[in-house]
Amino acid sequence: MSDTHTSTLDNLSHETRAFAPSVEFVATAVGKAEQYEAAKADRLGYWEDQARKVLTWDTDFTEVLDWSQAPVAKWFADGKVNAAYNALDRHVENGLGDRVAIHFEGEPGDTRSYTYSQLTDAVKQAANAFESFGIAKGDRVAIYLPMIPEAVITMLACARIGAIHSVVFGGFSADALRSRVDDAEAKLVVTADGTWRRGKPSSLKPAVDEALAKDGHTVQNVLVVKRNGQDVNWNEKLDKWWGDVVDTASTEHTAVGHEAEHPLFVLYTSGTTGKPKGIIHTTGGYLVQAAATHRDTFDLHPESDVFWCTADIGWVTGHTYVTYAPLINGATQVMYEGTPDFPNQGRWWEIIANYGVTVLYTAPTAIRTFMKWGRAIPDSYDLSSLRVLGSVGEPINPEAWMWYREVIGSNNGPNGEKKEHPTPIVDTWWQTETGAHMIAPLPGVTSTKPGSAQCPVPGITVDVVDDMGVSVGNGEGGFLVIRDPWPGMLRGIWGDMNRYQETYWSRFEGMYFAGDGAKKDTDGDIWLLGRVDDVMNVSGHRLSTTEIESSLVAHPYVAEAAVVGAKDETTGEAVVAFVILQVEPEEGEDVVATLRAHVGKDIGPIAKPRHILVVPELPKTRSGKIMRRLLKDVAEGREVGDATTLADNTVMTQIADSMHK
Ligand code: WTA
Repeated sequence: MSDTHTSTLDNLSHETRAFAPSVEFVATAVGKAEQYEAAKADRLGYWEDQARKVLTWDTDFTEVLDWSQAPVAKWFADGKVNAAYNALDRHVENGLGDRVAIHFEGEPGDTRSYTYSQLTDAVKQAANAFESFGIAKGDRVAIYLPMIPEAVITMLACARIGAIHSVVFGGFSADALRSRVDDAEAKLVVTADGTWRRGKPSSLKPAVDEALAKDGHTVQNVLVVKRNGQDVNWNEKLDKWWGDVVDTASTEHTAVGHEAEHPLFVLYTSGTTGKPKGIIHTTGGYLVQAAATHRDTFDLHPESDVFWCTADIGWVTGHTYVTYAPLINGATQVMYEGTPDFPNQGRWWEIIANYGVTVLYTAPTAIRTFMKWGRAIPDSYDLSSLRVLGSVGEPINPEAWMWYREVIGSNNGPNGEKKEHPTPIVDTWWQTETGAHMIAPLPGVTSTKPGSAQCPVPGITVDVVDDMGVSVGNGEGGFLVIRDPWPGMLRGIWGDMNRYQETYWSRFEGMYFAGDGAKKDTDGDIWLLGRVDDVMNVSGHRLSTTEIESSLVAHPYVAEAAVVGAKDETTGEAVVAFVILQVEPEEGEDVVATLRAHVGKDIGPIAKPRHILVVPELPKTRSGKIMRRLLKDVAEGREVGDATTLADNTVMTQIADSMHK
């Protein structure tokens, strides 16, 4: 374990608080202790039950799991199911057509609500439009959209016809979009003119134009949603307005069942090498775990709850807990387009009060930002409707957890009134690769501990092991692994099945290696300690050190670069880069600003280093491996650790000297 993990371990070992659920909460809780028992006694039987409970199958399945080609799993393989039918049509058929599916709030304050019947019609129209473009089952569709209902509609329309969506986060650059379009060989791109960011228009279409400017791509159509009304360039050959093609399409469209193992989507995520991985998820197993965890972790009562997951559609959280699970479960949810500080820092609390949000699911980085802004802001709103609060994306430190509980979870109105029983906090650990929650308390069963994600959800078996793959316990640290296949697991990496095997299944024999450090306390509860590989976590977003290094080295000024994640109070980690220059910059040029802008353009603004330090040398071992651990010490302002394995042991002094110049 690295030094950072040891120190985090020490801090967390002092945390001993635990909060049992209230009697009132337990009485109506959906998730029950018996589920753990049932799943322990018969794991496959448990998932078989869940599969029939949460989904309506066109063709029932006869086999739950086929693991004969491990590590590629097949779940419910001979069953057929349609994701969009399950998210939409069946609720309408069951008399829930007038229930609101999505309350949309745009950043400028415009609002739109879709009932289940309206959303069903919209998805049928989009499905017809996509088919009119020649999109068929198995074709790939790239989605580059802001947080607007059309994003959900597009994803579900793809799922309906069996096309595989690949959502590219709207904050990514033209280059990042092009490489994802190329890797998946997308035939259609769905985008918007632009969106709004802090009151100003923010464009999307120009990035698509730039991405497709060079020939050699597979895109035949670009469908453009009109959102912020800005001027756009028009390519007569490719571009079509959503309003012309989708809004005029027929609302008749019959969904057919797709094989449970038919791919539902590809989502690119950073790994330990420069090239993002296209994580493949399939239909049946993914939907089962998505819906079951959404129901149990958030204690979902779909007839009365108003759920709000603040994640963008560009990340897996937006896939599973905005598009799929809430709709499969027939819930009502809120979707918000903009930032939390526009027009003021109370925007989120105003949304919660206005829509009566009952379940809020957000990230520690947001919570820490609100802490910084001060409790007076949420205190002045009525947040009494909240009854469950969720966290995801990175370890939540106990201070942020307690603030979430005491300030947001105890708010019983704007006059400083407190709830008798603060809302449970559920910290949920999972990954793009796992598809859905893996470790999370059940709010009506578990006594929750600040800073711990605690126990695997029913039907999941995780463990913490040492270097040799042997289980640890009693407060010891190690590596988080998953011992058994699970329904929502990734089925591979697009176009690179060897990399799938190597990345996840070769570190420990027969176990899935998640890339996270963890400890198990004396109760057996799990505490996550952050990544142990070269993946950074900035505001809950995964970034690869290698990817940013490659981008820096691609700039003509840079000879060599090393990137580390340094602790940051708000964003969890921040990107810090060390570069060796190969040319003298022009007189008066701000190299650091140039390089930051370069990375922003190359990958996207979230990848811009917080600091770039120009250094004469990088610390390397005799075999030439950069010792990032030492650079991390520098970046975090610590005394530099053991440097005896360096090829040149004066390097760290040179770096220190260059920083003081
Ligand atoms: C981290 C996001 C601690 C972890 C759903 C994981 C967390 C990576 C938690 C996956 C949590 C996510 N506690 N760490 N509750 N949730 N992580 O693929 O390092 O964007 O491996 O999926 O985020 O990030 P991804």
